[in-house]
Amino acid sequence: MNIYSRPWGKLSDGRIATLYTLVNDRDMTVEITDFGGTIVSIKTPDRNGRITDVCLGYDSVADYEMADGYLGALVGRVANRIAGASFELNGETYTLHANDGKNCLHGGKKGYSHVIWNAETATSPDAAILTLTYFSPDGEEGFPGNLTVKVTYTLDNENALSIRYEAATDRDTPVNLTNHTYFNLAGYASGSVFDQTLWLDAESYVAGDEKLIPTAVKPVEGTPFDFSTVKPIGQDFFADCEDLHLAGGYDHCFNFTDWKDCRAGGEILLRGIVYDPVSGRKMEVYTNQPCVQFYTANFLKNPLFPLKGGYPQRTQTAFCLETQTMPDSVHHQGEADFTNCILHPGETYDYTTVYRFSAE
Ligand code: BGC
Repeated sequence: MNIYSRPWGKLSDGRIATLYTLVNDRDMTVEITDFGGTIVSIKTPDRNGRITDVCLGYDSVADYEMADGYLGALVGRVANRIAGASFELNGETYTLHANDGKNCLHGGKKGYSHVIWNAETATSPDAAILTLTYFSPDGEEGFPGNLTVKVTYTLDNENALSIRYEAATDRDTPVNLTNHTYFNLAGYASGSVFDQTLWLDAESYVAGDEKLIPTAVKPVEGTPFDFSTVKPIGQDFFADCEDLHLAGGYDHCFNFTDWKDCRAGGEILLRGIVYDPVSGRKMEVYTNQPCVQFYTANFLKNPLFPLKGGYPQRTQTAFCLETQTMPDSVHHQGEADFTNCILHPGETYDYTTVYRFSAE
């Protein structure tokens, strides 16, 4: 196991970001920068041992700072949407930054995806570990309470990349942390992911309006949102289905089977499998989070920010599986259909998601 670092380029405030490379004893390498705790590359073998980068990203940290899309980033304090960019908690109103129409998306103007995290590295006989910490002061981006956040990336010899998210607060606050990696198991510059297959252990999904603010929680059964039996991502993509049309594809929160039993520090279960029949690469997703946002990169089309090597952004050439709580849950606290997103002083937010790669 090995982990090494190098300076990776300048941010607009003159600070230099660092790029960390985690290498295991097999043939997997992961690059992560302390800017946004962003996963920059994931190199993993196909069924013939040929190694390819399956993670979409940019060539420079300046692009990560300027571009939209949150490629590879750690997202917080509250990933996904908060309607009207404001919420009430304990009788007080909190105003956030509206960066998605009238709504707040992925933490606001400068969320955790756009700050430099403190980094520490370690290795053990079978793990390369990058520990990132960030102190988010009371009032940052409008959120209440000082939040101490720790995210631990671990690459092991089973070709599993695990991400453990821990946080503690001194006032009640909503928290929803995730990672926003765009994957394409055929390689980031391989085009559409429609032929890659997906299995998701989800019983329901959150339908949204045209700005993807939740309108209802619906069972997946009998809809294009049913991935409980493996099917190609593209199979029902163009189905005559209003919930798909409103989002321009899949961009929905899927609620895992028995999601109400999921809790901080709870059992980490296999919840998703993506498979690319061409390369044979497979990615399993294990988590103790209750939900996952499955997003088919419907907005990935910004001509100003080409991807690594100049490859153009194109819609549906990647998928994201962002484990988390339900969008806008801060407005649905106490409703049986919705997840809790409030962290109280004395509690520990502690969730882990593992992306495990193999080939067959
Ligand atoms: C959202 C998309 C958004 C993307 C990039 C996803 O989590 O659901 O609607 O475009 O993040 O910001």
